[in-house]
Amino acid sequence: MNIDIPKAPGAIKKVLVIQYSQTGQLTALTEQIVAPLRADPRIAVQVEKLVPLKPFPFPWPFFRFLDAFPESAHMVPPALAPLQLKGDEDFDLVILPYQVWFLAPSQPVTAFLKHSVAQRVLRGKPVVTVIACRNMWLLAQEKLKSMLAAAGAQLIDNVVLTDPGPAMATFITTPRWMLTGRKAGFWGMPPAGLTDAQIRGARRFGLALREGLLNDREKSNQPLLAGLGAVQVNPRLYFSERAGTRGFFIWGKLVLAAGPPGSWQRLPPLVLYAAFLTLMIFTLVPASLALQALLRPFMARRLSRIKTQFERPSGASTERSHIYGV
Ligand SMILES: Cc1cc2nc3c(=O)[nH]c(=O)nc-3n(C[C@H](O)[C@H](O)[C@H](O)COP(=O)(O)O)c2cc1C
Repeated sequence: MNIDIPKAPGAIKKVLVIQYSQTGQLTALTEQIVAPLRADPRIAVQVEKLVPLKPFPFPWPFFRFLDAFPESAHMVPPALAPLQLKGDEDFDLVILPYQVWFLAPSQPVTAFLKHSVAQRVLRGKPVVTVIACRNMWLLAQEKLKSMLAAAGAQLIDNVVLTDPGPAMATFITTPRWMLTGRKAGFWGMPPAGLTDAQIRGARRFGLALREGLLNDREKSNQPLLAGLGAVQVNPRLYFSERAGTRGFFIWGKLVLAAGPPGSWQRLPPLVLYAAFLTLMIFTLVPASLALQALLRPFMARRLSRIKTQFERPSGASTERSHIYGV
């Protein structure tokens, strides 16, 4: 390995890592990235674990799962247990892993980004986002970017790992995992979630962050993770995400107006929406993909623009991966 570490490093670098995961998947991924930083005496890592005052269950009872969509889509933050952060800390880098809930950042992460203490800590700081989700994250990242901008933070990198199974299979395997806790493959479908190899491979990002930090490169507001295959965008899912986001927003308003989370008044609009959503997933998404396949020659430029736009800032190219043993 030819990693460029200076002989006479300066002061200790301080890194804040945010942590929330229901199944442990996102924590395992984050741990791979953070391990090289933790192992280096020139880097101090502080982990802030997010604890919602009213915990989100796993596995999710069916209606509890559905009931989470209005607040997720409208980014209504749930109350968090007090943070360890005080607000006056000065970090060199913030690592912000998150999962996607209903095409938006998960509620605990939204709560963190809207927290006044977090906003003080984030102001002016370079942030690396790390997403692990089924495979629809494009518009969640747009929402997250707007929250980072509101806090005055700088997004310098985005790492995305998505479930490797075929998109239509993951519409079954991921909800099954969330609702029953069962992750293994069944009826010829792949297991839900990321593979161990994907998670292990994320170590390359930690090695590159360490190298960047020890060379003060985080100060340049340029990506530290370019050339490492940090993100691969499937632009064809963008149109389904747009339609889904619109649906979540409109129906979410209706459910929010019906009553607070968990109230029986929410049940009728939620049941209606569940039926509508299932219909959409198994009609609109395949129809949108089929239509795009037909229109491919006319859409190529638009799709390529979407791909480039959403692969920023870290990019899909892999020319530096070999440096980190991948
Ligand atoms: C309520 C809920 C909604 C979800 N919505 C999406 C989604 O819109 N897009 C997506 O790609 N994954 C979605 N997922 C999957 C998660 O992003 C993530 O992969 C899974 O919850 C595992 O994360 P964990 O580390 O918290 O266990 C959803 C999961 C939950 C629990």
